[in-house]
Amino acid sequence: MRNVIRKILPAVALLWATSAMSQDDLPIPADELVYCTVCHGIQLMGNPIIRAPRLSGMETWYVEQQLRNFSAGVRGLHEDDTIGVDMQPMAAVLTDAQIKAAAVFVNATRSTSPKITISGDTLKGKAHYSTCAACHGVAGKGNEALGSPDLTIPDDWYLVTQLQNFRSGVRGSHPADSYGMQMRASVQLLADDEAIMDVVSYISTLRND
Ligand code: HEC
Ligand code: HEC
Repeated sequence: MRNVIRKILPAVALLWATSAMSQDDLPIPADELVYCTVCHGIQLMGNPIIRAPRLSGMETWYVEQQLRNFSAGVRGLHEDDTIGVDMQPMAAVLTDAQIKAAAVFVNATRSTSPKITISGDTLKGKAHYSTCAACHGVAGKGNEALGSPDLTIPDDWYLVTQLQNFRSGVRGSHPADSYGMQMRASVQLLADDEAIMDVVSYISTLRND
């Protein structure tokens, strides 16, 4: 009996959490933004199957920055960007007012921290992170004045892909991408994939819940 309860408990907890999350205080997307949830999931909690990252609570200014980048083709149109190419046309159809509304909606969404899917050496990762902290902050919460985002929001697998993209130039090599270029310079400090896994594992320890 105890075993059965132990097995059922997480499911009940999840059900409770989801019902708590669907209460009235959580935002419902305007009709023209419902399609964001098709890929990014309910409350933009992320969908690893199609590589759409968790966006819940992401900073308004950063969402605007990225939607404008995708819309202008500064991001997502590199010939080797097999994932960003799915997002690029989604932003391209948005008007300026809709980009602003989308950013407000994204910022208001809530979901629990994503599952850990990457394993790395958090101690080595912490050492690597000391250079990242200059822009992303010691707690990983980002810095609007420097254009650097909160790294504790998206999924760990997404951070890995983006670091690899910056390293290879799939992201951040467009001449109009001044913020991406800064990040591209910084990522060169991570020597290989192992260093990327280590730093991302460390970033996961900075999540709040
Ligand atoms: C067809 C699926 C799809 C739809 C619909 C979609 N997205 Fe995305 N989105 C993605 C994928 C995939 C990525 C990851 C791109 C990458 O890896 O570079 C992404 C990335 C993003 C990012 C970048 C996040 C970051 O941390 O840099 C933002 C912001 C975003 N989407 C917002 C939205 C919004 C707002 C909408 C609705 C207007 C939307 N998306 C609709 C698939 C989608
Ligand atoms: C000089 C400042 C600076 C430093 C140092 C820096 N970053 Fe960044 N980082 C940025 C900026 C600016 C962006 C936003 C780029 C854009 O707008 O596309 C960014 C974006 C990112 C992203 C993409 C997040 C997302 O949601 O798409 C990741 C991941 C990241 N940085 C990780 C790191 C790591 C890990 C380090 C340390 C090795 C680091 N950064 C060092 C400025 C910096």
